[in-house]
Amino acid sequence: MPVLSPPLFRLVYHSQATHALRPAALNALLEKARAHNQYRLLTGLLLYADEQFMQVLEGPDPALSALYEEIKTDPLHHHVRTLHYAPIRRRAFPDWRMGFAQLSGETFRQATGFLTLEATPGLAAHPPQALWEQLREFAQGAAVSR
Ligand SMILES: Cc1cc2nc3c(=O)[nH]c(=O)nc-3n(C[C@H](O)[C@H](O)[C@H](O)COP(=O)(O)O)c2cc1C
Repeated sequence: MPVLSPPLFRLVYHSQATHALRPAALNALLEKARAHNQYRLLTGLLLYADEQFMQVLEGPDPALSALYEEIKTDPLHHHVRTLHYAPIRRRAFPDWRMGFAQLSGETFRQATGFLTLEATPGLAAHPPQALWEQLREFAQGAAVSR
């Protein structure tokens, strides 16, 4: 009998850090996230710049949605805005428990397709497919820890 794998989903969000995070705080966050993600079969990419986050999360539900609910209430950030949520056929970051890059504001804007991150209409207008493809392309060429 064929082994069926559960349907996969991809989520992309943007958020504002509540304060500037020191490398030690980011490392602690990543360490916990990677352990949790590995256990839940979740993968993705986290970008941080100028007190802003953008994260791509991939994996099965309800694990993905449950984590997102948890992330949304994390006091380290606020103004969490979902940019993309859709079923996928395969992961863009299959080997990444959570890739991470801390970027300059300029590189962050390039990686996210020159989004006007302060303006909600700008975000909403951005085609979601183009957004995560841009992120994946960026991550492949950038120094990302995973
Ligand atoms: C920007 C951001 C991204 C996060 N990403 C993840 C993640 O990918 N996986 C994860 O388990 N926790 C992530 N977290 C942490 C969760 O919000 C939450 O703190 C953690 O899962 C709670 O773990 P604990 O209850 O064991 O302390 C993230 C938090 C922030 C602020």
